[in-house]
Amino acid sequence: MIKWADIIFFRKHGVCPRWFCFTFDNGLRRLVQNPDRIIRPYVGEGDKVLDVGPGIGYFTIPMARRVGSGGRVIAADIQESMLRGIVRRAERAGVRGQIELYLSRPDEIYSGEPVDFILSFWMAHEVPRLDRFFRQLRAALKPAARFLLAEPKLHVSRTQFDGEIAAAQKAGLALLERPAISLSHGALFGSGRVGTSGRFPADQREASPFTRKEH
Ligand SMILES: C[S@@+](CC[C@H](N)C(=O)[O-])C[C@H]1O[C@@H](n2cnc3c(N)ncnc32)[C@H](O)[C@@H]1O
Repeated sequence: MIKWADIIFFRKHGVCPRWFCFTFDNGLRRLVQNPDRIIRPYVGEGDKVLDVGPGIGYFTIPMARRVGSGGRVIAADIQESMLRGIVRRAERAGVRGQIELYLSRPDEIYSGEPVDFILSFWMAHEVPRLDRFFRQLRAALKPAARFLLAEPKLHVSRTQFDGEIAAAQKAGLALLERPAISLSHGALFGSGRVGTSGRFPADQREASPFTRKEH
C-alpha cells in the first residue's frame, strides 16, 4: 500500500521535483542548517568541488563563493530545470564564473575530471544503483580528497543509512568520521587510495550549456 509519507517524500517515486525546491532553499532551513558552516571544514580557496544532486544550489552558491575565482564547483544534477535554477541564482550572487553545469543520468552521475571534495546532500536515496553511484564518486575523488554524504533523517532511517555506508565502503571509500549535521545522518569518506591519480582523461566535458560524457 502506498503511504502519504512515501508520496510526500518521493520514497518510491524517483527524484525530487523542481516545484518542491522551495522547501530546500529558504530562511527557515538556513536557521537550522547553515550551508557555510557545513562546508567550511571541507572546502577551501582554489578547490575543485563536485556538488552531486545540487537541486537549485543551496550548497553550490556558498561553495562557489568559498572556492573563489581560482576554483570551480561542478553542479551535477539529473534535472535540467534544477541546473537552470542554479544559473539564475549564481548570476544574482555573482559566482556564475565559478560554476560548471553537468547533466547526469540516473546511472551516470559524473565521469569528469577528479575533484578535491564531493558533496552529496539529501540526494543519495534518490539514486537507483548505489553501488554504481559510489564507484563513480570514488573514481572522481583525487587521492587525498573527501566525500561528505548527508541524508535526511525524516526520510532515511538509521538502518538505511548504515546500508548506504556499507555500500560506499564496498565501493572502496574509506569511512573517516560521522559528522553531526542537523536533521541529517552524516558520513565523511576518503578515497581509500594513496598515490597520484593519472588515470583520468584530461577533459571529457562538452561545450555549454551542460556537460555530460557521451557513451
Ligand atoms: C532533495 S534534492 C537535494 C538538493 C540539494 N542537495 C540540497 O540539499 O538542497 C535532490 C536532488 O538530487 C537530484 N538527483 C536525484 N537523482 C540524481 C542522480 N542520479 N544524479 C544526479 N542528481 C540526482 C535531484 O534532481 C534533486 O535536484
